[in-house]
Amino acid sequence: MPYRIERVADPLDDRIVALRARTFGGGEDLNRRYLRWKYLENPYLSEPVFHVVLDGDHIVGCRGLTGAAWITPSGDRVRIPFGAEAIVDPDHRRKGVFSALVRTGNDDAAGLGFPAILSLSATPAARAAMEHLGYAFVAPYDVVLSDRGRALRSRIRRRVIWVKRTAAPGGLKRLDSPDARSFGVFTVDHALPDEAADVPPQSASGIAHERTAEYLQWRLGNPLFEYRVVVSQPGASADYVIVQANGSSIRFIDWAGTDDRVVDLMRRVVHLIDPRSVAIWGRWAPPAMSSFVAAAGRQRPGYESDRGLLVHHLDRKEATRQFGGVDLGKSGSWNLRMIDSDRY
Ligand SMILES: CC(C)(COP(=O)(O)OP(=O)(O)OC[C@H]1O[C@@H](n2cnc3c(N)ncnc32)[C@H](O)[C@@H]1OP(=O)(O)O)[C@@H](O)C(=O)NCCC(=O)NCCS
Repeated sequence: MPYRIERVADPLDDRIVALRARTFGGGEDLNRRYLRWKYLENPYLSEPVFHVVLDGDHIVGCRGLTGAAWITPSGDRVRIPFGAEAIVDPDHRRKGVFSALVRTGNDDAAGLGFPAILSLSATPAARAAMEHLGYAFVAPYDVVLSDRGRALRSRIRRRVIWVKRTAAPGGLKRLDSPDARSFGVFTVDHALPDEAADVPPQSASGIAHERTAEYLQWRLGNPLFEYRVVVSQPGASADYVIVQANGSSIRFIDWAGTDDRVVDLMRRVVHLIDPRSVAIWGRWAPPAMSSFVAAAGRQRPGYESDRGLLVHHLDRKEATRQFGGVDLGKSGSWNLRMIDSDRY
């Protein structure tokens, strides 16, 4: 292979930013902020582990490892990173470039003492490539996605309405308004994460994503999305939902409280924002919440089952030991609450 793989100290190199922006869109400024958030501000890896593939001076591919911490069912804390920014320039695909990146990433991760690597939201192509390299798909997130757009008759009409809806003032800001407060919806900034971090995971058992205040603070700083933590009474955070927005689409990514109260809060949020689509984790959301989201659309809801958690053992015995005898390769070993720190 005429390519060179190098580990870089600076994932904000203009060529990497441009490669990511070309592949996933969003413009260079947003992509630079995203890469900074994910690789330089991440609380779990002190130095970025980021590789590029060079063809001459051209960067034609990249992949990074993002730090993450996991709590075992017995309460121990284990750091295992997940692979991300898997990108190969279209002219260089299907030549083993990504495979070479993954192998180099594996060697470096093993050198840093990690017994496994995860993947949290691979696209179908990346998933196929990772499965080809020995990653095991262990659990789909089964996202429930309700489209609230009206059934429109023509594309032109749809485009006009889309522009109107996305251009409509408000979005998540509507949740901060006096109207929202009189409707029993209050947003809190950074006050909640400390308390949210103390809320025990609802689906009790399984390996869970760490939920310290530091983690939540970082997680909700993902510049690709806007977030609001919503409570039903000022100063009280026993019941809350965390809303994530991408344009006029929202996802309920986390919550606490009784099903009735949380669904009530979700209903108010949907009413106030009037989003184009609503989504929730189907895999661990209680049935009352999944049913609410499924019914929130004007058409039959969709279910995304192609994305999920992939695991690659670098040292299976050591991984099982660190996780207190729990097998990372079994779907029942995982509590998928708020697991995906990247795409969702
Ligand atoms: C996913 C991606 C990184 C793969 O890069 P690549 O360098 O082409 O992958 P490789 O050549 O190492 O592929 C190794 C094997 O993976 C599988 N594979 C790779 N791409 C595939 C695809 N699009 N569909 C099905 N299988 C695929 C094949 O088994 C392939 O072996 P083969 O070519 O001998 O059949 C590349 O397609 C890409 O950049 N896609 C767009 C960005 C993206 O989706 N990134 C993932 C974000 S999570």
